[in-house]
Amino acid sequence: MAKQKNTENKKLHSKLMGQKKNRKQAAKELNRQRLRELNQLANKRRNENRQEPLHPVMENNQIQVVSNFPDLVSASFHGAMNAVCWKRELSGDFSEIASRVVFTGNMTTLEEEDLLELDLSEQGQLAREILIADLKLLRDHGASPVLNVIRYYDRDDEDSFFSTDVYSFHVDHSPIPVDTFLCTYYGDSSEIIPNSQAQQKVHIPEIRDELRKLYNGPEEGFGAFLTEHFFDLHYEALPGANPVSLGLGHLWKIATEHPERQSLPCVHRAPVEKSGQSRLLLIC
Ligand SMILES: [Fe+2]
Repeated sequence: MAKQKNTENKKLHSKLMGQKKNRKQAAKELNRQRLRELNQLANKRRNENRQEPLHPVMENNQIQVVSNFPDLVSASFHGAMNAVCWKRELSGDFSEIASRVVFTGNMTTLEEEDLLELDLSEQGQLAREILIADLKLLRDHGASPVLNVIRYYDRDDEDSFFSTDVYSFHVDHSPIPVDTFLCTYYGDSSEIIPNSQAQQKVHIPEIRDELRKLYNGPEEGFGAFLTEHFFDLHYEALPGANPVSLGLGHLWKIATEHPERQSLPCVHRAPVEKSGQSRLLLIC
């Protein structure tokens, strides 16, 4: 009798365990399915935004255009205006400089000494003089400019439901009040969008739910978790958003997220390298 009961108990136990396992698997599958849908949605939005025509640089609510470096430096951000453009038409052949770079990885930094060592055509020399002059202008202003030649940036895993690489719209964060300066001399250029055309990803309900699961801790630490992993710096472009291409040769100053900011931080992203050309980019 005892043996029979034991066997029956075992049977019941196996059945219950089987049901539990099936429920777990179903929950896992459901979770996977939701993540897949989320990724598909994110990719769809990304592709929609990619197809949007990029608007050329012109003065608008977000952008102030200036014609010299002192005006670029002294222009102060306010409200929705969080990007200043020193509009320039540069002469010289920057492609020659980009093409001379020997890559060890996907990106390399050009020092002033590297530039001086290059044997260049007349147009290449002109480009080099401009690069050195820009580096000097920014250094004299107290910044630490870096000249990069970029084939591509490191990307997050395609399957990640939350991309935090530079191809995702984001704002730069700084613990002290400094702005970002950047200029693309050659290749695809960065893009910005007005803050009214973007939503912080952590406020999108489906994404916030997934982040909460990932965090899996007490509510009071959730905000710190989002900051710690830079999730709060990333944005999703709203449908119909109009990204503005920062163009070639213009030197930009864009607002960062910092404790004393007077404007919204500037939402921007690195371009997906469509042209196949290496980008020549100055940034600080
Ligand atoms: Fe950035």
